[in-house]
Amino acid sequence: MTLQDSVALVTGASSGIGEETAHALAREGADVAVAARRRERLDALADDLEAAHGVETLVVPTDVREEDQVEAMVAETVETFGRLDVLVNNVGVGVGSDVEELSTEDYRLMMETNADGYFFATRAAIPHLRETEGNLVFVGSFAGQYPRPFNPVYAATKWWVRGFAHSVEGQVGSDGIGVSVVNPTEVRTEFGSESGETFEERFEPGEVTEPEEVAEAIAFAAAQDRSTVHEIDLYRRDKFDGW
Ligand SMILES: NC(=O)c1ccc[n+]([C@@H]2O[C@H](COP(=O)([O-])OP(=O)(O)OC[C@H]3O[C@@H](n4cnc5c(N)ncnc54)[C@H](OP(=O)(O)O)[C@@H]3O)[C@@H](O)[C@H]2O)c1
Repeated sequence: MTLQDSVALVTGASSGIGEETAHALAREGADVAVAARRRERLDALADDLEAAHGVETLVVPTDVREEDQVEAMVAETVETFGRLDVLVNNVGVGVGSDVEELSTEDYRLMMETNADGYFFATRAAIPHLRETEGNLVFVGSFAGQYPRPFNPVYAATKWWVRGFAHSVEGQVGSDGIGVSVVNPTEVRTEFGSESGETFEERFEPGEVTEPEEVAEAIAFAAAQDRSTVHEIDLYRRDKFDGW
């Protein structure tokens, strides 16, 4: 399995898991299109990818809540490279916690980013992935697998991601498209920045998973050329302590 001569598109690539995933895919030989809103971060990442791995890159500043921008993101990737082998739906935000205190604005932010954004990108990518018999990889979460006493709306978006991904898997598997979900527990990234404290700040190095580890799991799923990696759970080892 290799990603040599492949083209990958990663959403939420300006930090955390997405940024490390772009590196992991480029290390395996893929040319990589990187999408998020912060263009300067993406420009710097693209320079790093080209210097470190000798691959081609494309920067596509995109707000995944905007249908037109997501359509353009996929179209520009295919126009530039001539194909699409891998889409990593990674973008995601979590804000707030208790349902009775959650504003409608924050509810919509999570639904539009974590659910609508994945739908728009998946819909646009499927025809191109069918051509290459490529792979769709979704970033889910432990929060989308088990009930927990924290931010039910964020959790529900991740249950949605898993439900959507596996249903799409049922639909496009016979077209030769692989569909995978990768579920991390806590990862040291900028996640949580909307609420004032990032997971990078909250957790010490070594306390929870690092984004590079999740990126390797995503790259493993993305490099499959025959089988589907149905789901990978990548948990911190003490997750069930006191469960
Ligand atoms: N960290 C964890 O503990 C953890 C655990 C389980 C699952 N996850 C999931 O992992 C995925 C990646 O998160 P992360 O931990 O790497 O967090 P992160 O460092 O905060 O990265 C989130 C990325 O999403 C982008 N983004 C946010 N809103 C966007 C929008 N409207 N349009 C386009 N891009 C947008 C951000 O870039 P811009 O601001 O530049 O747009 C950033 O690149 C998410 O789906 C998250 O739910 C994280």
